[in-house]
Amino acid sequence: MPQPLRLGVLTGGGDCPGLNALIRGLVKRGVHEFGHTFVGIENGYMGLVEPDLTRPLTEEDTRGILPKGGTILGTSNKANPFEYAFKKEDGTWGVKDVSDEVLRRAEELKLDGLVAIGGDGTLTIGHQLSEKGLRVVGCPKTIDNDLSGTDQTFGFDTARGICTEAIDRLHSTAEAHDRVMVVEIMGRHAGFLTLDSGIAGGADVILIPEIPYRIEPIVEKIRRRGRRKRSFSIIAIAEGAYPVGGTLAVAEQAEDIPGRGVVRLGGAGKVCADLLARHIEAEIRVTVLGHLQRGGTPSAADRVLATLYGCKVLDLVRDGEWDHMVALRQGKIVTVPLSESRKERRVNPNGEEVRFAKSMGISFGD
Ligand code: F6P
Repeated sequence: MPQPLRLGVLTGGGDCPGLNALIRGLVKRGVHEFGHTFVGIENGYMGLVEPDLTRPLTEEDTRGILPKGGTILGTSNKANPFEYAFKKEDGTWGVKDVSDEVLRRAEELKLDGLVAIGGDGTLTIGHQLSEKGLRVVGCPKTIDNDLSGTDQTFGFDTARGICTEAIDRLHSTAEAHDRVMVVEIMGRHAGFLTLDSGIAGGADVILIPEIPYRIEPIVEKIRRRGRRKRSFSIIAIAEGAYPVGGTLAVAEQAEDIPGRGVVRLGGAGKVCADLLARHIEAEIRVTVLGHLQRGGTPSAADRVLATLYGCKVLDLVRDGEWDHMVALRQGKIVTVPLSESRKERRVNPNGEEVRFAKSMGISFGD
């Protein structure tokens, strides 16, 4: 019988559906099979830097959370201990390395290890803390599906379903008004969410970051539809998509978001709509799905994947496979080094999914 341990648990980065399902699976198996105790660390790594952000995490705390979106532990995408934001005396923001404090805090809390649940940022920090001696294991999550270590992250399936339903709903109103509907979909610099939901929702045009677009083929596609008496069109555009020779549509620059370190995207749909308006007569409307894509109850597939991740990560703890994370590869839950989370994954512009979509007449603006 392996030794019962005291494990810290945190969720970092943007939330996504399935986080609570994972926490539940982890705590249930941890308590029942191993006799572990868990410490909930609130608001991501912030909970290991700021005071009073930890609490016991018992099986009782996980009751009824399986279908709930968000995370009972809270999260933050602005709490990197290696570049921690602080307000200087002159009121401006600076960053400092507080990773030693994190290690001290983990010792104070008597943690035998830390389970970090997050995307590339959270897992990369986990790896950096591992290199400093903290025992960390990870679970990959994100609606963006952009982590190369795993074939799929949980959260993606739910978000894909929400986007697909949104495109379905836009169809009827687009048709009623003979409009061109541009729908902006999250995913940062990866087009997985837009590609899948664009195909599932029957979009006429799919624009993704991996294929910079030109406006002419899109105009031609809309006109061709018009000639076939289709007086409306749906354009699914990723927030990270941009025109050839253009730049990313940025809502907030990295330097304006203390502690975040990366830009916040937004506005790609409007850029595309403005370019289109110069060429077509039809009315154009832009819908930005925004955080609707991340909220609410997880799909059954995400609940299962998250639960399995939560259970499997305890095997890594049992086997002393620190500095590793769980991952889905070819339908199996496996373990890969945490350093893999640094590698980003992108849609293959020449891959089967894009090729078949094009073969059906969907325009990618190229
Ligand atoms: O990484 C998840 C994600 O939802 C991205 O798709 C999006 O670009 C970003 O987070 C939005 O961040 P925030 O919640 O800080 O607006």
